[in-house]
Amino acid sequence: MNMPRHRPPTDPEPFLFEMGSTSDVPEAPTMPHEPALRLWSRSKARLIAEYLRLFVLVTKHGTYIDGFAGPQVDEDCWSARRVLETEPDWLRHFHLCDISATAVKQLEALRAAHPGRDIHVHQADFNARVDEILDVALGGKKEAAFCLLDQRTFQCRWATVEKLARFKQPSAYKIELFYFLANGWLDRAMAATTTPGGLEAIADWWGGDSWRPLRGAHHTVRARMLSDRFRNELGYRFAVPWQIYERGQGTPVMYYMIHATDHPVAPGLMARAYRSAVLGPSPPQLDLFTDMG
Ligand SMILES: C[S@@+](CC[C@H](N)C(=O)[O-])C[C@H]1O[C@@H](n2cnc3c(N)ncnc32)[C@H](O)[C@@H]1O
Repeated sequence: MNMPRHRPPTDPEPFLFEMGSTSDVPEAPTMPHEPALRLWSRSKARLIAEYLRLFVLVTKHGTYIDGFAGPQVDEDCWSARRVLETEPDWLRHFHLCDISATAVKQLEALRAAHPGRDIHVHQADFNARVDEILDVALGGKKEAAFCLLDQRTFQCRWATVEKLARFKQPSAYKIELFYFLANGWLDRAMAATTTPGGLEAIADWWGGDSWRPLRGAHHTVRARMLSDRFRNELGYRFAVPWQIYERGQGTPVMYYMIHATDHPVAPGLMARAYRSAVLGPSPPQLDLFTDMG
C-alpha cells in the first residue's frame, strides 16, 4: 500500500499543526474490530507509559490519576498496567478510577500485583468523584501530577476537565492532561444520538451546545478546536494533538491524544515518546506525518 509522503517531524513546535495533511487517508470504519482495537490501544498505552518514563527521569516523582482506568482490551494494551511497570518506578502515587465493577476487580488485582506501591482504586463515576480524588491525591502536595482521560467517546464531561485544570496545588504547573478525543467513530456516534438524554450527554462532554459544528468537520479541525480550548479556556501553555492510528502511520486516525501541559520540557518529551511508542523505529527516509506538533 502506498503511504502518503510527508516531511519528517522536527522537534515539537506545538502550534505547527498543519491542517488537512491527512486528507488522503481513508476515513475509519464505523466499528472497531478486535485486532485493530488491540493495535491502537497498545499504541495509546505505550505512548503514555513512555512519556511518563521520560518525564519522571526529570521530576523524580509524580502522582498519576487515571479517571477511566479499566482495561479496554487486554493487559498488554492497558495503560495503567504499563505505567505501573515502567522503570524506574519513581511515580509515587496512583489513583485509578473506573465506574464498572468488573474493571475495578481488575484494578484491584493490578494493585495486588504491585505490593509496596501507593495505589488507590476508586469505583466511581469519575465526573462525580473528581473533586474528592483530587483532594486525596494532591491536596497540599507539591508534586508533578498527571491525569489520563481515556474515555471511549463522550464519558468525560468538560466540567471534569475544567476541575482538573483549575485544581490549586502548591506546584507551579497545572495537572498535566492526556485527553483522548475519539475520531474513528465520532461522526457515527454523534449521528446516532437523537434522544434528549443522549444529546445532553454530548453537551456535557463538550461543555455546551456548541459541539454541533464538530459533525462532519475534518478530524484535524476537530482536534485543533479542542486543543485551542485547552489553551484558551483552560490556560494551558501547550496543548498538542497527537494522532493514534488504527494500524500504523498512514492508516485511519482512531483517536487524538491531546497533551495539555504548562511544563516547557513536556512537549519535547512527548515528541520523543511518540516517535518511539507510536511511529516505532524508522529508517532515515521513512515518511512521517508532521501535523502533530
Ligand atoms: C476506553 S476504556 C479505558 C481504557 C484504559 N485506559 C486502557 O488503557 O485500556 C474506558 C473505561 O472507562 C470506564 N468508564 C466509563 N464511564 C466512566 C465514568 N463516568 N467514570 C469512570 N469510568 C468510566 C469504562 O468502564 C471503561 O473501563
